[in-house]
Amino acid sequence: MNVCVIGAGASGIAAAKELHEHGIAFDCFEASDRVGGNWVFKNPNGMSSSYRSLHINTSRERMEFSDFPMPATYPDFPHHTHIAAYFDAYVDHFGIRDTITFRTLVTRAEQRSDGRWDVTTDAGETRTYDALIVANGHHWNPRWPEPPFPGHDRFEGVQMHSHFYTGEDPGLFRDKHVVVLGMGNSAMDIAVESSFLARATYLAARRGAWVIPKYLFGRPLDMIPTSARVPYAIRRRVQATALKLMVGDPTRYGLPKPDHPFGAAHPTVSDDILSRIAHGEITPKPNIAALTERAVRFADGTEVEADVVVYCTGYKVTFPFLDPELVAAPDNDLPLFRRVFHPEIPSLYFVGLLQPLGAVMPLAELQSQWICDHLAGRYRLPPPGELRADMAAERKAMFKRYVPSKRHTMQVDFEDYVLGVEQERKRGAAR
Ligand SMILES: Cc1cc2nc3c(=O)[nH]c(=O)nc-3n(C[C@H](O)[C@H](O)[C@H](O)COP(=O)(O)OP(=O)(O)OC[C@H]3O[C@@H](n4cnc5c(N)ncnc54)[C@H](O)[C@@H]3O)c2cc1C
Ligand SMILES: NC(=O)c1ccc[n+]([C@@H]2O[C@H](COP(=O)([O-])OP(=O)(O)OC[C@H]3O[C@@H](n4cnc5c(N)ncnc54)[C@H](OP(=O)(O)O)[C@@H]3O)[C@@H](O)[C@H]2O)c1
Repeated sequence: MNVCVIGAGASGIAAAKELHEHGIAFDCFEASDRVGGNWVFKNPNGMSSSYRSLHINTSRERMEFSDFPMPATYPDFPHHTHIAAYFDAYVDHFGIRDTITFRTLVTRAEQRSDGRWDVTTDAGETRTYDALIVANGHHWNPRWPEPPFPGHDRFEGVQMHSHFYTGEDPGLFRDKHVVVLGMGNSAMDIAVESSFLARATYLAARRGAWVIPKYLFGRPLDMIPTSARVPYAIRRRVQATALKLMVGDPTRYGLPKPDHPFGAAHPTVSDDILSRIAHGEITPKPNIAALTERAVRFADGTEVEADVVVYCTGYKVTFPFLDPELVAAPDNDLPLFRRVFHPEIPSLYFVGLLQPLGAVMPLAELQSQWICDHLAGRYRLPPPGELRADMAAERKAMFKRYVPSKRHTMQVDFEDYVLGVEQERKRGAAR
């Protein structure tokens, strides 16, 4: 048995560590010259979406791997440099650095007729593997507004996607009129940064959001105890009530009224945005309707002068090395069994291809352990009918709960996901 892991970001190193500990032979290819993926600011791979000021928005304790705590000297929400250093220390602690082939981009992974994989790299080499673990990340390929806004080709200022924002050039925003589009976490951070430099900052959004602070009752929000055994409706009611008491109604700040109940969108977490709006340093606006040479017009007919437009419009899930006829995620949607197993290709696994309410890393670790069970013959998947029914039920529940959007195609609740995988691992072991 030999396995290929694509990527050595947080997900890939979790997979590599588990394979190593289980004694399963593998190669891990990493395009960059170092581990850490998105968390390496200005990563030479060109794929990181980090900016200079980025801090995690899931807390340290929520994000750390189960067997490698982050240093106690780290703050609750460390800077990206801390996170990159942590991943670097992880690979040394578990002795897996030598298992990673750096500066090597996988250009093609082709399934052979015998089910094995021919993996070709930009070194021009092709090797054959029994199984493929895809951990190439899903926050590196920017999704620009589709279709582009009318007048985008006439606009004389700067238009950029948040992926390309580094925060290193204060001249980008200083004394400018800046429009930031989106209500996700990139838009929150970038609008706040702009608000300290720009003459005017506008936050445009096509729908509102329930903005969540990082702390509630003096604790990181994601460390407030909750249980998958309590029905979701009850948990949501408790959380929504706490948020209402602590933060209040977003419309009081001039933000659009969310068109969905609390919990029906990926969390927008910010301690600062409401304060900057309340101080008049950011002006909320509805969606962009059109651009002219030097202005942006919004859906309500208002128009503002604009020098810079930052599209914080999310990312595309892509696998450039896989045959799109075999595996693709149109509109970011790739149905998988519990976000790990491809329903038709048993030797193809995914790690970290999920959007948790909570952090990715411990889930990537759990997924990797589960994959090792499968590779070692200790876990058997359910029969095809059962597997399909499980996937269908999971998708139905997710699409029912979440606002229709390309950002809501792989949402999981942290505790529920962990419990579900643990139960399924036991069932599969018994099979
Ligand atoms: C601005 C921002 C902030 C975020 N904040 C948080 C947070 O606070 N908490 C949280 O849990 N999540 C956060 N996320 C989500 C983020 O996706 C995860 O934190 C994490 O980066 C996922 O790790 P990954 O290994 O799956 O992907 P990545 O970090 O993207 O790593 C993928 C790796 O694969 C390599 N690779 C890709 N393609 C190839 C190829 N063809 N061949 C070889 N190597 C390849 C890349 O070089 C890279 O090293 C954030 C995302 C963004 C954009
Ligand atoms: N500090 C941090 O830790 C931090 C910072 C940044 C990002 N992140 C993470 O990185 C990931 C990506 O976040 P993101 O904010 O870049 O992207 P995102 O979560 O996908 O949000 C994209 C936003 O753009 C809007 N949008 C998309 N297309 C649009 C269009 N054509 N017109 C108008 N609005 C449009 C979306 O609205 P709809 O909802 O209507 O689709 C949404 O508000 C998330 O997991 C996030 O948590 C974390």
